[in-house]
Amino acid sequence: MADRQYLKIFSRFERFWHWAQAALVLALLFTGARLHGLIGGVDWSAAFALHLVAAGLIIVLWVFAIFWHLTTGAWQHYIPTLRNLIPVIGYYAYGIFRGAAHPAKPTLHRKHNPLQRLSYLFLKLVINPAIWATGVLYLTINLTGLDLQTVAWLHVISAYAMAIFVVIHVYMATTGDTPTAYLKAMTTGYEWVIVEEDKAKGPMTTRAKH
Ligand code: HEM
Repeated sequence: MADRQYLKIFSRFERFWHWAQAALVLALLFTGARLHGLIGGVDWSAAFALHLVAAGLIIVLWVFAIFWHLTTGAWQHYIPTLRNLIPVIGYYAYGIFRGAAHPAKPTLHRKHNPLQRLSYLFLKLVINPAIWATGVLYLTINLTGLDLQTVAWLHVISAYAMAIFVVIHVYMATTGDTPTAYLKAMTTGYEWVIVEEDKAKGPMTTRAKH
């Protein structure tokens, strides 16, 4: 038996981490676009200074977030699974435009659908480390003697991957029961979730206390 309840599934830290990361990524995308010459407006050296401050802050934030994921067990929400993946892809490619029901509603133990798991895992294990590592290599180019062109292009490619992630993520964020339902969930922490009777089913419950 399953019961649908309006519960707090995103803790205070999780929400802070999400929105702080969003703000810093946008700041890095805009200042990075200025450094790359895609946009004008701000003075180059001001953009460079802002880029480095935001980069430092996001690295600190990522270190705290990694610690939080490991200590709370939240990392288990990102274990990839093929189960129900094809129906979820089918839903976003086709069913959503025909008013079909979502094949994987969030439960207390499975906050993310299989497609979210894969995309967030890719962000955390590939895009974030790539942008961080290439950024640090860019900054320390004089110390390492690496080829500047290669490092610069690897950083730009990681930045494009991040930009693509952001665009898809923002679109997906509007596909809840109402266009702002997911936005509201990540702001208040509360979401309608299915509460399974068998508590042993999933990784953890984020019945956040804060
Ligand atoms: C979401 C994260 C980030 C994005 C989207 C981003 C984007 C960019 C872009 C588009 C450029 C211009 C590259 C070029 O034209 O050669 C750039 C430059 C740069 N970024 Fe990032 N970046 C991010 C994170 C970081 C991090 C974490 C660091 C350092 C730890 C960093 C350090 C640098 C440095 C040193 C430059 C070179 C500026 C120069 O001297 O031309 N970035 N970034």
